[in-house]
Amino acid sequence: MTSIVVLGSTNMDLVAYVPRAPALGETVTGRAFRTIPGGKGANQAVAAARAGAEVAMIGAVGADDFGVRLRAALEHCAVDTDLLRTVEGPSGTAHIVVDDEGGNAIVVVPGANGTLTSLSHGDEALIGTADALLLQLELPLPVVVEGAVTARRLGVRTVLTPAPAQPLPPELLAATDLLVPNEHEAAALTGLTDPRAAAQALLRFVPEVVITLGAAGSLYASRGAEPVTVPAPRVRAVDTTGAGDTFVGALAVALGEGRPAPEALAWAQTAAALSVQREGASTSMPYRVEIEAAFLSPHILEVDSA
Ligand code: RIB
Repeated sequence: MTSIVVLGSTNMDLVAYVPRAPALGETVTGRAFRTIPGGKGANQAVAAARAGAEVAMIGAVGADDFGVRLRAALEHCAVDTDLLRTVEGPSGTAHIVVDDEGGNAIVVVPGANGTLTSLSHGDEALIGTADALLLQLELPLPVVVEGAVTARRLGVRTVLTPAPAQPLPPELLAATDLLVPNEHEAAALTGLTDPRAAAQALLRFVPEVVITLGAAGSLYASRGAEPVTVPAPRVRAVDTTGAGDTFVGALAVALGEGRPAPEALAWAQTAAALSVQREGASTSMPYRVEIEAAFLSPHILEVDSA
């Protein structure tokens, strides 16, 4: 079984479902509100566990009710939380509006996530046992860099989701094996809006890049090979929150199991296509049996765009 460690955030997602997102200074009436366990790190952990990996999470929750629920949600998905700290103060929260098209806008307040600034010996030992370390940018940057550098030193594959978008220190890029930005993050990193050009530019720093393109699928690029675009199944999205995290978690599992990159991308896109048809981030993530069924029979999830 593929073994994955996630060094990342846990947030309670406070989600308002609205006909359309309000402009600054405007009030709109929502139709529903839910609290859903999320955070890019925890989402990727849940996605990978449901996709069939053995997963452990390094991170921090607050000493509040949200922290109890966030830990329990991970454990419910069989994610090992032995190295998930509970610290004084509030848990991370994400304040999300989801509109009737399934699009979202998010404000993240880091809370406990902001307290994790360095790794313990136990964290390092755990990372050393993994096939892959998944990283995002919702923890303080120094610990993300330390995680990547540690994994590289221990021969563990590093998969970095550069979100929320921000400039990446050279030492982080140098310790990244696979970079998985969405098209907006790729443009922010490179200044190039064409995904193929952005991927080529990023290959100067990392050996492999996957750029997610939303409904258009994803682009895989590696040094010395022609980039490959893998189309996504056409589905009707009700909530795209966490779709990228679902993709990354499933991709790490597929690559860990030795699937060739284009097939791994298609498998991960199937997982993401299933997730956007359900509300919430972690709550929407599919189990392996569902991914396999839809991967083998894509017509199960495809809809007419009309
Ligand atoms: O990627 C989706 C996640 O981003 C949400 O679950 C929210 O917590 C924010 O961190």
